[in-house]
Formats: sequence, C-alpha cells, structure tokens
Amino acid sequence: MTSLPTYEEQRAAARRRLPHMLFEYIDSGAFDERTMDLNRADLDRLRLKQRVMRDMSDLDLSVDIAGTPSSIPVALGPVGFAGMYARRGEVQAARAAAAEGVPFCLSAVSVCDYEEVRRDSGVTPWFQLYIIRDRAYMGDLIDRVVGAGAETLVLTVDMPLPGIRHRDTRSGLYDTGLGGFSRQAWQGICRPAWLWDVFVRGRPHGFGNFAAAIAGKKGLGDYWRWIRENFDCSTDWDDLSWVRSRWPGRILIKGVLCPEDGVAALDAGADGIIVSNHGGRQLDSVRSTIDVLPGVVAAVAGRGPVLVDGGLRSGLDILKALAAGANGCLLGRAWAFALAAGGESGVVAMLQALKAELRVAMTLTGCTALRDADRSLLDTGSPPLSNLYGSGAGRGSL
Ligand code: GLV
Repeated sequence: MTSLPTYEEQRAAARRRLPHMLFEYIDSGAFDERTMDLNRADLDRLRLKQRVMRDMSDLDLSVDIAGTPSSIPVALGPVGFAGMYARRGEVQAARAAAAEGVPFCLSAVSVCDYEEVRRDSGVTPWFQLYIIRDRAYMGDLIDRVVGAGAETLVLTVDMPLPGIRHRDTRSGLYDTGLGGFSRQAWQGICRPAWLWDVFVRGRPHGFGNFAAAIAGKKGLGDYWRWIRENFDCSTDWDDLSWVRSRWPGRILIKGVLCPEDGVAALDAGADGIIVSNHGGRQLDSVRSTIDVLPGVVAAVAGRGPVLVDGGLRSGLDILKALAAGANGCLLGRAWAFALAAGGESGVVAMLQALKAELRVAMTLTGCTALRDADRSLLDTGSPPLSNLYGSGAGRGSL
C-alpha cells in the first residue's frame, strides 16, 4: 500500500518549506486561539459507531455539493495568498481539485486572478468574495468573474473587520516599513528552496483579483493594508440583494454560526450556507462549527444546502460532519499545507488520503452512500459526549 500523507506530516513539511510569516498566517487563529482549538477538540470528542457484518462491497462516495457534482463531500475552500505557498499556487490547487473531482473555490485575495486560474487549470472555480467598501470595484469584479464563467459565489460575511491575530503581527506579516521588509527578506533567505521556486520563478506576485484597485503598490504588506481598509462593517442583509442582482448563479453565505443567521441568509436570497467560524481566525470564544451545525441544519430545514468548515482534516472528520447534518465540507488549512508541502501532487495526495480514509470509515460504520449519511453513524451514548449531541443536552438538534 502506498503511504498516505497525514495532516500533521504535510503541516510539518510546510513549516520547513515556507518563510515563517507565511506558515504562521496559515496556521494561526485569532486572539488566544480557543475557538480554533475547539473546532478540533469537538471533532475529536465525537465518536463513530462501528457496525459489522454488512455487505459493504459497493460504496458511493460521490455527492452533489451545493449544485456541483463531487467525487467526495469535500471542496477546497477559499484560502488567501495561495500563490505564495507554491509557484502559481492557486492554479496548482485547482488542477489537483480537478484531477480528484472536487470543487475548488478561489479566494478573492489570491495571487493568481480568476482568469488565470480558469485558463491554466481548465476548471471553472467557485469564487469567494467579501463585501468590500469599494462597491463599484466589487460590482466590476463580480461582472468580470461571471463573464469568465463563474457559477458559484461564496460570500464571506464574518469579516466586517479582521480578527486580532497576534501571530501575524509578531511575524511581521503586516509590516510595510524598512524593518518589516528586512525581516521578511531574512525569512525568505532562510528558505532557499521556496525563494527559488516561488519567489523567483513564481512571479508575478500580483494582487490577483484586486490588481487594478491596488495599482502602484508593491508588497504583500500593501496588499494587506488595502484589504484591511476595504472591509466594510456597515454591511447588512440588504446588501445581499444588491449582490444577488449582479450574480446570476448560486450564492453561498459563509460565516453562519447560529440558526437565526442561517434562516436570515436564506430569507435574504442565499441559495445555501456555510457554517463557519473562519477556522477560528475571527471571533474567538465562539462555539465550534461541528457543535453548532445540527442546530443550524434543523433551523434551515432543507431550504438549501448546509456546508461546514473548521478543523476538518481527515476522512473520519468528513464522515462526522456529514453525520451531523452537513451536505458537504470545505477544507482550508489542510490543502494550504498540502500545497506548500508538495504543490499540485501534495494536494492530490491529500485528497487521495481523504478518499482512502472515507472508504474505511464508511465500511466500518455501515454507510454505503455518503449522500445518505445521518446521525446513526455517530455513537452518542458515551458519557463524555453528553454536551455534544448527547441525549437531552439541549444543544443542537441531532
Ligand atoms: C482571510 O480570509 C483570512 O482569514 O486571512
């Protein structure tokens, strides 16, 4: 059997390969990182229920993720600056997603723009966007990607302002002064393989989809400054009708963390929602996504697909999320580390590992088709689980 990479192996390889501030940017969360850790801890507390002596010779791992057919219930979710983790990183990741038959979502804050990813990967990615202050630019950008064939928009709504990310300020990521520049240069010099492959041969490191808006600036720090200045904390659900009027395809709202907001998103015209706490990178001390998921699924009551992200790393995590009611999962850090560790083939290997893990998990829980996964796959009987999905605990509705 060929060896399959684990999340921790790819994370460690990414750490060895990337300049410190880029590794920290992917790896870190907000404030004291309690929610980031909780996403993992709560997934780990869930138990699958083993079932044996069933005919499991014919398994179906495929699902429809919010209108996009997929070989497994996984999409590569939006991750910023992937073109800094590997040479033309967004293109490599999109190719890997296409090779393994899963959707790829291009982050608004990418290095390669939508047209390049589409042209060089041959796929039509989902597109992620925040509501930005410069509505004229936002409108033009929407028209551009729609013109390039985009069908699914992931509208991130949990970033009216950026979270407090101590590890990023400590690493020098946002520093645009001379001191910051020398630190960043030194971190690059300490990673010669990355320097040659990504920094030298991976050019241009443009501002991707925002190039026209940030014209005249140079570095990553400038890019960050523009992004931070363009978050808009005056946004409300009425803005969704404006987006709706310009986007003919599907709109998924990313950043829902309670049942009321799930319902509000659908009432305001969204086609589906993504239960997300931004990987613990925004508001800390909120509940984990796997914890709130069943309550949101119940409230939404089948009016649209409910996807989830946050701490998902293995096929077992994916099966747990589906058992808890999700229609599909988004990966973030997992593919970013896989990309940094091994480029396109690193992401392919990660997706193949997920498939192999899902097969084992399905076979030993008696799940023949992932689209039929439900709570019967979970063992809610053991005492430590009484808060998370335990009977009578009153949290969520599984
Ligand atoms: C962007 O969405 C980030 O989390 O940095």
